[in-house]
Amino acid sequence: MQKKKIILGISGGIAAYKTPELVRRLKSRGAEVQVVVTRSAIEFVTETTLQAVSGLPVRSNLWDTNAEAAMGHIELARWADLVLIAPATAEIMARLAAGSAPDLLTTLCLATEAPIAIAPAMNHVMWSNVAVQKNRDRLESRGMQILGPAHGDQACGENGLGRMLEPDDIVAAILVPKAVPEIAAKPLSGKTVMITAGPTREAIDSVRYISNRSSGKMGYALAAAARDAGAKVMLVSGPVAVPLPENVVRFDTESAADMYSVVHQHLESVDIFIGAAAVADFHVVDVAAGKIKKTAKELSLDLERTKDVLASVARLPDRPFTVGFAAETDNLREYALGKLERKNLHMIVANLVGKNLGFETDRNAVEVFWRGGEASFPIAAKDKLAEDLVALIGTQYLESISADTQIELPTIAIRD
Ligand SMILES: Cc1cc2nc3c(=O)[nH]c(=O)nc-3n(C[C@H](O)[C@H](O)[C@H](O)COP(=O)(O)O)c2cc1C
Repeated sequence: MQKKKIILGISGGIAAYKTPELVRRLKSRGAEVQVVVTRSAIEFVTETTLQAVSGLPVRSNLWDTNAEAAMGHIELARWADLVLIAPATAEIMARLAAGSAPDLLTTLCLATEAPIAIAPAMNHVMWSNVAVQKNRDRLESRGMQILGPAHGDQACGENGLGRMLEPDDIVAAILVPKAVPEIAAKPLSGKTVMITAGPTREAIDSVRYISNRSSGKMGYALAAAARDAGAKVMLVSGPVAVPLPENVVRFDTESAADMYSVVHQHLESVDIFIGAAAVADFHVVDVAAGKIKKTAKELSLDLERTKDVLASVARLPDRPFTVGFAAETDNLREYALGKLERKNLHMIVANLVGKNLGFETDRNAVEVFWRGGEASFPIAAKDKLAEDLVALIGTQYLESISADTQIELPTIAIRD
């Protein structure tokens, strides 16, 4: 890091109090550090301290004529070998994602050709907010390096994913002498997702069956979204007329019993299981061998419960992160929360079904519940909704494993 020129951007999060230490660590490795703060940042850390540790006047104002005369903002943007924003607030992530430049730091980010790395820090509920996750994905897809956040105690008194990485960890991420960034560009890279989709058919005789109105569109849209998020996707599908998304492996099934056995045969390497299929609750006890003749005036069928695919996965001792769907015609929240508990799920996605809602349509609106949180997704095209759901499921899944997994630090390259 000898003589590397680093702009350290500090935005207004509580973790800003750690930045004088971060400046010292960077400087002790030989870097030149120019601190740029937002207006909110100086509520948490003083310019005097930052100037003392960096040895350079702190820049804060785009409209500072003296500073502009010395080194204008464009020169500053050219000067940098790396722009590091730590902590990065939800707000600055939104400004960067939107490409807006109302202040010095965001203007520099648009004007620089140097790599940009951000170390987000915020309350864990803010971090899991879909808007924040979408901004995170947008920034990452544009090549920004996202360092952390870490899991643990938070300034607000809660515990979760959202802490800024420690200064040492940030420096370590910058120091790794790799020329090419190695960060996984996609949040579910290396993960395997199994999704069930569509209806099941429970045979009555050799030509008739009992089924339901599920089209499979939501499950197929989720499969495409999980693939786009980098996952290897297995789609266990009932009989549907929806085209198979590319690079998704499909297993065709017909009855609930088929679906149950295919799911359990391939579950071993699955990290996330999403049960979006509308699996029949009952099947016919004695399926007639041929076609039942219509000679009798009445016909009675004996039905018995099918095996519950979703609950059977959630009951496994080493279950994957398990997400269920609940289609209800009323009392959505109450039924969904009941099912979350009863079936021991990590998350449940609930939607109202009925006339023009849920089944057989291209649009849907859902409520998602998990222990300690919930989110509402207003009516949207199923593929758009699937993207948002996969982002939320991915975040919750990563949060669930991050408590006992060491943080994998991405490596970033500083411009030569
Ligand atoms: C006491 C306090 C602590 C805050 N901590 C955070 C935080 O850790 N992360 C965050 O994203 N926002 C936090 N905020 C909100 C930001 O300061 C606010 O969104 C601000 O507009 C950010 O502006 P900036 O990104 O330009 O610095 C906090 C606000 C207060 C009052």
